[in-house]
Amino acid sequence: MNKTILITGTSSGLGRAVAKLFQRHGWNVIATMRNPANETELTTLDRVLVTRLDVEDASSIGQAMDAGIARFGHIDVLVNNAGFGTFGPLEATPIETIRRQFEVNLMGVLQSMQAILPHFRTQRAGVILNVTSTSGRMTLPFGSLYHGSKFAVEGVTEALQYELAPLGIRVKLVEPGAIKTDFAGRSMAFNNELGLTEYQPLLESAMAAYGKLMGTSSEPERIAEVVYAAATDETDTLRYIAGEDALQMLAARAAASDEEYFAQVRTQFGLAT
Ligand SMILES: NC(=O)c1ccc[n+]([C@@H]2O[C@H](COP(=O)([O-])OP(=O)(O)OC[C@H]3O[C@@H](n4cnc5c(N)ncnc54)[C@H](OP(=O)(O)O)[C@@H]3O)[C@@H](O)[C@H]2O)c1
Repeated sequence: MNKTILITGTSSGLGRAVAKLFQRHGWNVIATMRNPANETELTTLDRVLVTRLDVEDASSIGQAMDAGIARFGHIDVLVNNAGFGTFGPLEATPIETIRRQFEVNLMGVLQSMQAILPHFRTQRAGVILNVTSTSGRMTLPFGSLYHGSKFAVEGVTEALQYELAPLGIRVKLVEPGAIKTDFAGRSMAFNNELGLTEYQPLLESAMAAYGKLMGTSSEPERIAEVVYAAATDETDTLRYIAGEDALQMLAARAAASDEEYFAQVRTQFGLAT
């Protein structure tokens, strides 16, 4: 019997690369997205069900899972990939944007896990992969909300493994570094208020440093391979660091004390006091 995967956020980027990779490996794929009517490629592939799932709409999560089970009989793997990033000074960020950051990146993951767990519990098997980021393990300036959402998913996932492992359910984290997707263009909200003059010089030098960071990004297909390994390796490994840049950054972070790391970042981002 073919295995079945459900992925959130397959309209683009990493989610799309994951859907295509698993399909090529012979899996049934429930490729979910907010606007399935716009999809023209995944709908042409064998064993792929394209269906609506907006992680901010709880009923759409259950409906997508039900539709997938009706079509393929079961689900073996859930990948919580959908996400977006809010950057800029906290003071300049509207409260609705702050809420949406946590609704999508955290609440969306929690609700998707709650929705799939009865199925996985009945099967006494299943794998949940939560896509975080190096941003879930280390911080950079003006990313308090994105980092907060990804750190939260890291904590939730790490703690959950204790209660799910005895039920035969594996819950894991995939932590990419920079990925060559259009995340910065289509999935990032930048908040600023020019009237908050104290932040403006800091923002200017921080943005220049961010530009340089994106030089070492990975192709989404390469990160999708890490997702595939995490879904299929049958181990209880919790964290999968994905991409050369991520391996280097997290090793450097682990080797530094908090004080050393913060000083390095301040210098790199021109924020030294
Ligand atoms: N790109 C990077 O450098 C990078 C690095 C580390 C981690 N990540 C993480 O990787 C994941 C995928 O990002 P990406 O790089 O592939 O960027 P992307 O191409 O912009 O993909 C983001 C996806 O999330 C979907 N999405 C947003 N809000 C949603 C909602 N409410 N319900 C369902 N889907 C929603 C988007 O769908 P729409 O088309 O409807 O907007 C899109 O398919 C994210 O969790 C991101 O945080 C990215």
